[in-house]
Amino acid sequence: MDQLDRIRAEALAAIAAADGLDALEAARVAALGKKGSISALMAGLGAMNAEERKEAGARFNAVKTEVADAIAARKAELEATALNDRLAGERIDVTLPARPETTGRIHPIPQVMEEITAIFADMGFAVAEGPDIEDDFHNFTALNIPPEHPARQMHDTFYFPPGADGNRHVLRTHTSPVQIRTMRETAPPIRIIAPGRTYRCDSDMTHTPMFHQVEGLVIDEATHMGHLKGCLIQFVRAFFEIDDVPVRFRPSFFPFTEPSAEVDIGCVRRDGELRIGGGEGAGWLEILGCGMVHPNVLKASGIDPDRYQGFAFGMGVERVAMLKYGIPDLRTFFESDLRWLDHYGFAFFDQPTLAGGLAR
Ligand code: PHE
Repeated sequence: MDQLDRIRAEALAAIAAADGLDALEAARVAALGKKGSISALMAGLGAMNAEERKEAGARFNAVKTEVADAIAARKAELEATALNDRLAGERIDVTLPARPETTGRIHPIPQVMEEITAIFADMGFAVAEGPDIEDDFHNFTALNIPPEHPARQMHDTFYFPPGADGNRHVLRTHTSPVQIRTMRETAPPIRIIAPGRTYRCDSDMTHTPMFHQVEGLVIDEATHMGHLKGCLIQFVRAFFEIDDVPVRFRPSFFPFTEPSAEVDIGCVRRDGELRIGGGEGAGWLEILGCGMVHPNVLKASGIDPDRYQGFAFGMGVERVAMLKYGIPDLRTFFESDLRWLDHYGFAFFDQPTLAGGLAR
């Protein structure tokens, strides 16, 4: 066996025996590296005569190619094995229990505001908004509550310190100032609801200093008390999802409406539970205030009371939410207790659609 055959056999054996990429690289360096066995043979070509060199060069090159091919083939083999080993090791264990998924919940306040909005949207009402910080004019004066009027005491108001002009701003005590803003900016016909935050200096079992209202306003040339009743009865049925819920309009007083009424709905109290609806032992529960917009309010808003008329209503969002969803304590709404929210909150897919009802 000449030297070339021996070197070839050794190189091929080392390549075949390489059990990893490092060992294969070592075999490559030993044969084809700068100081490798084949490179050393090639270096000897220079000492040969032309005839010998031609013949030996061809044989050396053939072996060099064969060894390089063997290295490439072994490398591919080793890489495939490594990949297969890794895939086998990484197999997904479908029997592992899934990690618990935490999803957020929608708070009952925005949920109920959305429900109310969707019902009135179906009746053609648009949504209007106004600032939480109001001036005295929009919150009181334009609503027919002049300075020193006893009705101001109905609202325990948060006042800001007087400004440079001596006027004190307030945290709005109701969403009714949005009526005024809308009437001053828009010509009739008007049909809006105004959902939003409201504030009164009051805190006990049934009052929180910040709460929510939805106000409604309809102004045109022909709307009368019958429309007011029909609209609110329709709303109450749609909101509580009870078709025959008894509804009563009880005369009341608001400075900004005349006549004014409070709307009561039928409810049954039994074993400490409150159920909306009529039937044996049913009583009444107040849920909102309403009335025909007072001519003074129209005048203050730049609307001619001899030509236009309409109605307004306002309701507390927490109150109707508590009634509809059986939430017993008002203060829990604002305690940010996640266990409470898990219990009383809503999934995203419970959102009402504009077509009415809940999308489930
Ligand atoms: N603004 C009244 C309140 O906060 C509610 C209301 C609005 C009553 C519109 C009648 C008409 O109590």
